[in-house]
Amino acid sequence: MLAGMDEHTAVNQRLWDELAPLHEASRYYDVASFQKGSSTLGALEVNEVGDVSDRRLLHLMCHIGLDTLSWAHRGAKVTGADFSSEAIRIARDLAGRIGTDAEFVRVDVREAAEGFDEPFDIVFLSRGVLMWIEDIPAWAQTCARLLRPGGVFYVLDIHPVALAISPTEGGQLVQHGPYFHVPQRPTVVRKDGSYAVSDAGMTNQESREWSHSLGDIVTALVRAGIRIEFLHEFAADDQPTDDSVPVDHSGRHQLPAHFSIRGIRD
Ligand SMILES: C[S@@+](CC[C@H](N)C(=O)[O-])C[C@H]1O[C@@H](n2cnc3c(N)ncnc32)[C@H](O)[C@@H]1O
Repeated sequence: MLAGMDEHTAVNQRLWDELAPLHEASRYYDVASFQKGSSTLGALEVNEVGDVSDRRLLHLMCHIGLDTLSWAHRGAKVTGADFSSEAIRIARDLAGRIGTDAEFVRVDVREAAEGFDEPFDIVFLSRGVLMWIEDIPAWAQTCARLLRPGGVFYVLDIHPVALAISPTEGGQLVQHGPYFHVPQRPTVVRKDGSYAVSDAGMTNQESREWSHSLGDIVTALVRAGIRIEFLHEFAADDQPTDDSVPVDHSGRHQLPAHFSIRGIRD
């Protein structure tokens, strides 16, 4: 454990340091296709974030950097930040191999506000991030401090309802975690793998995860000085359209799977 690091963070960092190279080699991340020019960004986030040309974009919790580099390919001046030294090493190597200009910084998101000299035009986070954050008000303050006034905040993540309950094949609802935040008591998860790799034979299988209600997330951002433009909710089979106006919710799934929030730093 690094000096000053709490136990939950140390456990999670060991997990992500082990997962990063497994993910780099995984089919899910398909780095070979990425190197040939594919993008890992979905139409949803591309449309909702908007034009990034020549904007300074900070991707917090960037993992192995594929989304970060994809933003660079759309014209942004990118910085990726993650607390996993392995993830940052892989991201830097990849940027070098494909010749994309990008900065990758190893930093815990909780200390990110002190990590950069200049504020950014865009702060971006996506897909699998808020469950790793214990203190959502502090996280929101950090995001606001990293943005210049008028800068764009954007997060796309797993919906807190989907983290708390899911339907079985038979259509019954099973609760597998809390919806509301439980202070100081993370959910302890043990899994030999991740959403991208299974039965990986991992040494570090434990993680510590946090729940946050949508209300807590929105309130934290508003209190931090982010003027929210929209909060969109998506079911698993929603098809966001090109103009990103959500969304036809008439699919089979009737529960939220993801949400996105875009806001402007006052
Ligand atoms: C699920 S991944 C994000 C996935 C990413 N959207 C992608 O598809 O590549 C979560 C990332 O958050 C990072 N992370 C978790 N806790 C963190 C913290 N306290 N500070 C910085 N990064 C953190 C992990 O190292 C990991 O790379």
